[in-house]
Amino acid sequence: MDNRIIAKDGNVMLRELKDSDLHELSEYANNEKVSVNLRDAFPTPYTFENAKSFKEMVDSQNPKTFFAIEYQGKYVGNISLSIGNDVYKKSAEIGYFIGEPFWNKGIATKAVNLMTSWGFNNLNIVRIHSGVFDFNKSSQRVLEKCGYSKEGIFLKSICKNGKIYDEVRYAKTI
Ligand SMILES: CC(C)(COP(=O)(O)OP(=O)(O)OC[C@H]1O[C@@H](n2cnc3c(N)ncnc32)[C@H](O)[C@@H]1OP(=O)(O)O)[C@@H](O)C(=O)NCCC(=O)NCCS
Repeated sequence: MDNRIIAKDGNVMLRELKDSDLHELSEYANNEKVSVNLRDAFPTPYTFENAKSFKEMVDSQNPKTFFAIEYQGKYVGNISLSIGNDVYKKSAEIGYFIGEPFWNKGIATKAVNLMTSWGFNNLNIVRIHSGVFDFNKSSQRVLEKCGYSKEGIFLKSICKNGKIYDEVRYAKTI
């Protein structure tokens, strides 16, 4: 397997980000239906310059924990694990997005399963978690399909676009 490919399941592959992905990355990320589900650190609007800066950050990572998702040979989104600090050093937070034209084809489910196995096998961690905004039923469904447990609800912990929401916490451990 090409050493830039980290995992594959049928038509879904996780691999390192390439310069040739940046046009599609900026197009798919520049969508409020995507950004409304993510932290404010995710730029809105999302420009080609934002995509270039993102790749520079990824290229400087060691070990790399941010990857591109490919579906049927095409770049369709990103997935990442962010390892915790201090006493949280054996935990990671999973993050992901898929370009809207590719939603509801089972891509995120395969990508989250692949990233979860890769993380447990390669990063010396014992827990992977995600905090999902309560209105994001699709992402909650993805995590449930991937065997993540709903651990609880952080009431009113999210302020997004001036409104308050609960956060639903999911985790998987080994
Ligand atoms: C959330 C997201 C990653 C899902 O990606 P995807 O490739 O469409 O996910 P999948 O196709 O693997 O699974 C989606 C599941 O959610 C279900 N779903 C979709 N919309 C739904 C809704 N409004 N209510 C309930 N379930 C819904 C689908 O039916 C599917 O479940 P099923 O297989 O049981 O039918 C994608 O919509 C996205 O990138 N959203 C914006 C960014 C984001 O939310 N990132 C995650 C932050 S925690």
